[in-house]
Amino acid sequence: MKIAVVGLGHTGLVAAAVFAERGHTVIGHDIESDKLAVIREGRSPFYEPRLNDLLAEGLRSGRLAVHDELDRCLTDAEIIFLAVGTPAANGDGPNLSEFWAAAGQVVPLASIDAVLVLKSTVPVGTTDELIDRFRGKWPNDPPVAAVPEFLRQGSAVDDFLKPDRVVIGTYSTSALKSVKQVYTPFILPEEKFLPCAPVEAELIKHAANSFLAAKISFANELANLCGKLGADYDLVQTGVGSDPRIGRKFLNAGLGFGGSCFPKDLAALIKTGHEADARQTVLEAALAANRRQVEQVAMLADEICGGLRGKKIIQLGLTYKPDTDDVRGSPAMELAFLLAQRGADLICYDPEYRPTDVGSDRVFQLSDSPVTDCPGRDLLIVATEWPQFHDLPWEQIAEKMKNPILLDARNMLNLTRMAAAGFRYVGVGRRSAQ
Ligand code: UGA
Repeated sequence: MKIAVVGLGHTGLVAAAVFAERGHTVIGHDIESDKLAVIREGRSPFYEPRLNDLLAEGLRSGRLAVHDELDRCLTDAEIIFLAVGTPAANGDGPNLSEFWAAAGQVVPLASIDAVLVLKSTVPVGTTDELIDRFRGKWPNDPPVAAVPEFLRQGSAVDDFLKPDRVVIGTYSTSALKSVKQVYTPFILPEEKFLPCAPVEAELIKHAANSFLAAKISFANELANLCGKLGADYDLVQTGVGSDPRIGRKFLNAGLGFGGSCFPKDLAALIKTGHEADARQTVLEAALAANRRQVEQVAMLADEICGGLRGKKIIQLGLTYKPDTDDVRGSPAMELAFLLAQRGADLICYDPEYRPTDVGSDRVFQLSDSPVTDCPGRDLLIVATEWPQFHDLPWEQIAEKMKNPILLDARNMLNLTRMAAAGFRYVGVGRRSAQ
């Protein structure tokens, strides 16, 4: 099929690359010409495993192209994916200005038969609003569908290739047919397709993220309780998570959730609940608990050091999770700012994050290597669970630090191994090996 993808951020670029890899002809559009220049070289403007290979192959085969002229991208498109960013706005759901600006350009240019698919995460009710705003474009059955995306950064290509479900929120039989046709080369069983109304598709997307976020807040508060009672959260997590109705996934305690999706989607669903007079108090509590969790860890650091002022701390990890260079809404970044604000002499290392404009360079130094920068440090904090941290030369690091104390704010390291390396180990609700 001939596909146009408007907005080449994390969702749009992965979609474009994977659709091309599956044999479709894809033209991507973005307003940022610098970004397009990088993509044309077969490189992703952000870090995402496997994506560069797919981009290079798509460009080489001619099945993938990118342009900044929107009309050129839309001319022959049978199906148009709107994937522009809907960034967080003041903790109250997303800012939709880019979304409406893009919709305002795309709808008039699109052919009347082209199917318009909303891939951007938009608040509940937005697809209906779009249909209303542009009612004049389609005399009968608007070929519009809300098809939310469930990919995770860091495993985006795999997630896109193997979706757990394809939710298709539409009133239009032609839109439903076309979306299913796009996914034909993915060879998905029929039960993976979930046709529904747009409002249901939007609710499913927000509810899925909100449920996972609430699960994490539950885990964090439970781990904090374990810490107070001297119980071991690892054991509690295993015991609770072994119940298949609960499951172990997303029960990892630590610094809390972040990124560009969970906090924003949770806030958006809370707002929808308020507006509909159906308050989502569980989600309100989950969001509040998440805001407190970074403070909990900062307090733990304060206790360990006997006050933060002037203490030399090295923090490993700044991104909101591993396998990404994204620091939007990152609890690790928030922790670094808090520690620095409270007077710690802080140096931070991250395998992928490179400073742009978050002002991080003004509050802490960036390290090129934890080994080089650990000498004389009072405390080491692990703030993002990068897998390569397992393989650091921990003995060497412990030996060089002034006080070999490790605060594992992601509960990722092996306690016995860290004790053997010479550390006093503190986790979030984990019982240390002494
Ligand atoms: C999340 C969802 O998992 C995707 O399904 C969804 O498509 C995406 O949001 C989106 O709406 O675009 P993502 O933000 O990439 O994906 O990352 P996750 O792997 O879900 O992690 C989110 C946050 O939760 C991270 O800060 C992570 O460190 C934290 N987390 C995760 C925990 O603190 N504990 C856990 O047990 C799991």
